[in-house]
Amino acid sequence: AQEKSTITLENTDDAPTISRHIYGHFAEHLGRSIYDGIYVGPDSSIPNTDGVRNDIIQALRDIQIPNLRWPGGCFADTYHWMDGIGPQEDRPSIVNTWWGGVTEDNSFGTHNFLNLCEELGAEPYLAGNVGSGEVKELADWVQYVNHDGVSPMAKLRRENGREKPWNVKYWGVGNEMWGCGGNMTPEFYANLYRQYATFMGDWSNSGGLYRIASGASEDDYHWTEVLMRDIPKNLIEGVALHSYSVIEWNDKGPAVEFTEDQYFKTMKKALRMEELIIKHLEIMDKYDPNHEIDLIVDEWGGWYNVEEGTNPGFLYQQNTMRDAMIAGATLNIFNNHSDRVKMANLAQTVNVLQAVALTKDEQMLLTPTYHVMKMYTVHHDATLIPVKLSGLDYTYNGESLPAISVSASKSEKDKMNISLVNIDSKKRNTVEIDLGALKAGKMKGEILKSGKLQDHNTFENPDIITPEEFTDFDSRNGKIDVTLPPFSVVVLKEI
Ligand code: AHR
Repeated sequence: AQEKSTITLENTDDAPTISRHIYGHFAEHLGRSIYDGIYVGPDSSIPNTDGVRNDIIQALRDIQIPNLRWPGGCFADTYHWMDGIGPQEDRPSIVNTWWGGVTEDNSFGTHNFLNLCEELGAEPYLAGNVGSGEVKELADWVQYVNHDGVSPMAKLRRENGREKPWNVKYWGVGNEMWGCGGNMTPEFYANLYRQYATFMGDWSNSGGLYRIASGASEDDYHWTEVLMRDIPKNLIEGVALHSYSVIEWNDKGPAVEFTEDQYFKTMKKALRMEELIIKHLEIMDKYDPNHEIDLIVDEWGGWYNVEEGTNPGFLYQQNTMRDAMIAGATLNIFNNHSDRVKMANLAQTVNVLQAVALTKDEQMLLTPTYHVMKMYTVHHDATLIPVKLSGLDYTYNGESLPAISVSASKSEKDKMNISLVNIDSKKRNTVEIDLGALKAGKMKGEILKSGKLQDHNTFENPDIITPEEFTDFDSRNGKIDVTLPPFSVVVLKEI
């Protein structure tokens, strides 16, 4: 029987760049994501910059957040952007009908969001309202944020205190149009998309907007097929896909006190991302053999039952080593498909679903997912090194999953990076990496591990899980042997 997994690195001149946008995030007006999580208002006693928590700004800068999607999600197709500009006293309070029926006072609007993105050095990704909005409304939003000349919306922006446009490139044309975005058929949406995309225009003369069509849920291949068939290529730059690592929608299981059975099922769902990407791409390739349209996974992550005692509409959940496994394995999948997957957005940044940070009043903690994101920054805009894996399985109850997940890249100056995940809940796994014709100098290792899969950082003990130096590897004769503890993420980086 095979005793260790083997990985072979391929030496090729033909590999894609891993877009840093694969490491993107998503913040919706949902629960405590924006209010409390990101935005506390300028009068808060919590240290802030223009109302945005300084601890969150720092944390997101430290993971080099490349882009941020906003304002939803389902909320996006109820959002009227004009409600969120101008003096606060003129901004209407509305009801957030999707998420808890709470009052939304619109105090965090377009200026707040786009200024935050500037502060973070992140590209904004605005999700337009197609479901309950109008073509003119979305076209005006583009004009408002992007036009530098004389126009009604540019004038309004200046009156609201912003002289220069923000030049927003990434635009979602609706969200989940098959569901909360309007329960549309793909044929109907494809037509509507054509209309919206036509009138959005490029008010910044910056070489064009990057328009993203609301994509399929999981394995709804028919949705992708119709969009690819019916939307002309000059109107679309990306088509989206949403897939959550959820066990069952009617009982998602607990975020912390989960069983091994639930862990296995979550990981099965997470690893299915690869099959989804391959099959959606097969369809896309049929209509777009020259690869002009990218695949954008603009919602992904673990989704569990909400924490007991919290508002069910707020989707607040803790984040354990299971989430680190989802993040490490999913990001490896995205890297390995970076020829076609050009952006992805983890759902969601703060206090919602698989968050990278959780807040409680003035406290903030960084989750295991955050640490994986930080460890993987080595792959941002690096050149992919394709890998071949012959791996051992993680077996549970007669079923098996690949235990090892891997991706590799070359940063500037040809420095090699390898990220490895051992999802096995019990077994250490030895991996032999064959560098083939590639050469690597001295490597440095970092590991994220813990005693129990259910371990997580708390407000009392925020540093239970943090990356540590990793030395359990040995490189010689063009091979690296690595021993990975159960449920661990390791990044090796050439120094
Ligand atoms: O991320 C939470 C919700 O999940 C989003 O609003 C929606 O797009 C998806 O169904």
